[in-house]
Amino acid sequence: MSRMYMFTRYGGPETEELQERPVPEPGPGQLLVEVRAAGVNPSDLKLREGLFGRRHTLPRTLGFEVSGVVAAVGPDVEGYAVGDAVLGPVAPGGGGFADHALVRAREAARKPDGVSFEAAATIPVAGTAAYDLVHQTGLEDGQTVLVLGAGGGVGHLACEIARAGGARVIGVASEGKRELVESTGAAWVTSGDGAADAVRGLAPGGVDLLVDLVGGQPLRDLAPLVTSPDRIVSAADEETATALGGSGRVEDPEALARLVAMVGDGAITPQVSAVYPLERAGEALAAVARGHGKGKTVVVP
Ligand SMILES: NC(=O)c1ccc[n+]([C@@H]2O[C@H](COP(=O)([O-])OP(=O)(O)OC[C@H]3O[C@@H](n4cnc5c(N)ncnc54)[C@H](OP(=O)(O)O)[C@@H]3O)[C@@H](O)[C@H]2O)c1
Repeated sequence: MSRMYMFTRYGGPETEELQERPVPEPGPGQLLVEVRAAGVNPSDLKLREGLFGRRHTLPRTLGFEVSGVVAAVGPDVEGYAVGDAVLGPVAPGGGGFADHALVRAREAARKPDGVSFEAAATIPVAGTAAYDLVHQTGLEDGQTVLVLGAGGGVGHLACEIARAGGARVIGVASEGKRELVESTGAAWVTSGDGAADAVRGLAPGGVDLLVDLVGGQPLRDLAPLVTSPDRIVSAADEETATALGGSGRVEDPEALARLVAMVGDGAITPQVSAVYPLERAGEALAAVARGHGKGKTVVVP
């Protein structure tokens, strides 16, 4: 049997429960992964609340990204064997807040040696989102990148990825995240009123790319600082970004492999600041729901 943290109907935290179900069988092209860590994302809350539509088969296990050890290999899978340490997004319909999860082999990657399972679990969703946002408009060496929401799960990785890409980075976050933002190599600017003026002080000629993880008015306040509006990219508020002349995230299928290599080389270090046992997955989700995440939150079975 496998423990799975599920939601039973669309709604709030009252719809969540830990259930025991049979261990899933890997289908063609799939890996059965014994989960060691699963990243918690705002998308888990959006799914539970029905914001991704209301046509899912329920109950459904939460958790979109995992790391773990291959426990079984489905038909037509090449290149993976039982015992391999891997990471990846969960297969459609599945969930990662569980003892076991299904991952499509073609979307998986080997966990680099020396990288913890907790850190590896941040790569498939939060990490690739950060990678895409930083690179989708063509980052060039020496450019200035402004990250709004720089202390959160995606934001701190965006700062690190932009730094690794040769950019000068300015990160906007609240005071409590200053140390984390600065540890990425970014210059920290406090969020709220005055953020735009502070960024202007650091980059009088404007910024070459605005990576947004907050949206709404904070995004509108910073948008005039970008030298070209098509270099506003957002994972949080595509509607506002588009209205400003920018865009939402554009997924690059190579992002996962590139990022895994960067984490393996030590060029990027995901910051996991909160680890919850599976029985307390609800507390992990509640912490992320407060919207002021610091680094990344993960659940471990
Ligand atoms: N499309 C995709 O594939 C994809 C993938 C991953 C994430 N996302 C989206 O990206 C967004 C960020 O995700 P995440 O995992 O990084 O979330 P997170 O860890 O909760 O971080 C969000 C950050 O936003 C900051 N923030 C909140 N309100 C703010 C405000 N008024 N002004 C300035 N900063 C504010 C918070 O920092 P402070 O506490 O310092 O204010 C927090 O660190 C979410 O909307 C998520 O759904 C999309």
